[in-house]
Amino acid sequence: MQHVRGVVARAQGEPVSVETVVVPDPGPGEAVVRVQACGVCHTDLHYREGGVNDEFPFLLGHEAAGVVESVGPGVTEVGPGDFVVLNWRAVCGQCRACLRGRPWYCFDTHNARQRMTLLDGTELTPALGIGAFAEKTLVAAGQCTKVDPAARPEVAGLLGCGVMAGIGAAVNTAGVGRGDSVAVIGCGGVGGAAVAGSRLAGAGRIIAVDLDDRKLDGARGLGATHTVNAANTDPVEAVRALTGGFGADVVIDAVGTPSTYEQAFRARDLAGTVVLVGVPTPGTRLELPLAEVFGRGGALKSSWYGDCLPSRDFPVLIDLHLQGRLDLEAFVSETIPLDGVEKAFATMRGGDVLRSVVLL
Ligand SMILES: NC(=O)c1ccc[n+]([C@@H]2O[C@H](COP(=O)([O-])OP(=O)(O)OC[C@H]3O[C@@H](n4cnc5c(N)ncnc54)[C@H](O)[C@@H]3O)[C@@H](O)[C@H]2O)c1
Ligand SMILES: [Zn+2]
Ligand SMILES: [Zn+2]
Repeated sequence: MQHVRGVVARAQGEPVSVETVVVPDPGPGEAVVRVQACGVCHTDLHYREGGVNDEFPFLLGHEAAGVVESVGPGVTEVGPGDFVVLNWRAVCGQCRACLRGRPWYCFDTHNARQRMTLLDGTELTPALGIGAFAEKTLVAAGQCTKVDPAARPEVAGLLGCGVMAGIGAAVNTAGVGRGDSVAVIGCGGVGGAAVAGSRLAGAGRIIAVDLDDRKLDGARGLGATHTVNAANTDPVEAVRALTGGFGADVVIDAVGTPSTYEQAFRARDLAGTVVLVGVPTPGTRLELPLAEVFGRGGALKSSWYGDCLPSRDFPVLIDLHLQGRLDLEAFVSETIPLDGVEKAFATMRGGDVLRSVVLL
């Protein structure tokens, strides 16, 4: 075992603190990773606020890249020295989804078996089974995906969560194809990535919708061909007007409220696809005219982690980035030290950044 520094949320709503974390040596199927960079995601704040579950204390951080330091018995897929992006869906290979050849839906993803603890032995719950606001973390070896080490860690790590969720919502879940029209509602880290993914997939028209002009400017840089500020323009009418009066082939809701979902539903062309990637608050309800759900045809889909398969998607997206075809740098708004996470939560709430990234 070894002692490292990590960002811990001890109790609901209380500021996070940097604490000493005890990291066990890796057991069978596990790996210890020296974290180099980890992005600050809304889900980390959600954990701190008790919005995910009440298994405090949490070791936060889950959008990370680093170098494998050591692996436990039986681990063959990665070894010491490998540059990896951490993922929160290590697929099992044995559940009904995996056995049917659809491992990106795996219903039994796994994490390290051993627990990291505080010095007094209190077990920590790592955020999304990762816990990477720490100098080192213990994960299941399957949570480590090798990528080209030429990529900068602060950029590569972002694929571990929000950026992958957005790109995958467009590319994997919606299946955006050449010439499709796409509208993305909410252009933060996730929606911005959906814009970038749509461009990568060859979309013809990419309409970015947000309430904040700064986000719309960012979306233009990522590939949006048109922008709509929904604070002063009806987004459904605007998307229709930009698509010959019909609506977009694909509308991605990267906010996740009943009102944005309804906008997505109504801004879509006949036989079009709606993808929900924003995470709704528990308890919210949706009301839609069922006759239109039927009559408009097409598909209403949800996207978990962009329906990604880390082993398939991370390496190729890093390669596309290194070739200059996918601007991942644009998502890194600032880099911060380990003790800057609490401040980064406030910055995130103010809407000032796509991502603050902790550098270790
Ligand atoms: N499905 C997944 O696997 C997955 C993974 C990561 C994050 N998420 C979720 O994706 C969502 C977005 O995450 P993010 O990191 O991009 O957050 P963010 O706060 O950076 O971005 C949200 C954006 O939506 C805009 N917005 C808010 N209300 C709007 C409205 N009514 N109309 C238009 N725009 C509006 C905001 O101005 C902001 O730019 C969150 O719900 C997050 O939990 C989902
Ligand atoms: Zn499985
Ligand atoms: Zn996240």
